[in-house]
Amino acid sequence: MSSKKTDNKNGSLKLVESARKVRERAYAPFSNFKVGAAVETADGEIFNGCNVESASYGLTVCAERVAIWKAVSEGKKKFKHIAVVADTEELTPPCGVCRQIIWEFCGDVPVTFANLKGKVETVQMKELLPRAFDMKFLK
Ligand code: THU
Repeated sequence: MSSKKTDNKNGSLKLVESARKVRERAYAPFSNFKVGAAVETADGEIFNGCNVESASYGLTVCAERVAIWKAVSEGKKKFKHIAVVADTEELTPPCGVCRQIIWEFCGDVPVTFANLKGKVETVQMKELLPRAFDMKFLK
């Protein structure tokens, strides 16, 4: 196995672990559906986030966006990987809104889904959001 593959594998495990940990802080009194996410910056830093719900349901923010907003508000602009963790048998992928945001801030990065039983899968962002709309159309 090449060292790159080993790095990627270890990197993604670290990311999943971070997402699993922050999931415990999810504020989800309405859905009881707890999600954790973690995004890795180009220089290897990890920012994580959990879902935060509102009594005005539509104001709820998903874990993926909380993680990305935390990183962006710390000045980070380049990302190389994102992970999402939920307690579901079938692995939980990002919702449509989050796919748009992940595409805009992270581009075609690997997206790792995992559950609490150790099931893990990685797909490319482009598979989750083909023919994405982004800033290039606004020029
Ligand atoms: N949720 C996330 O945080 N990320 C996803 O990828 C799917 C959905 C949250 C939003 C809401 O708090 C709860 O899960 C149920 O939809």
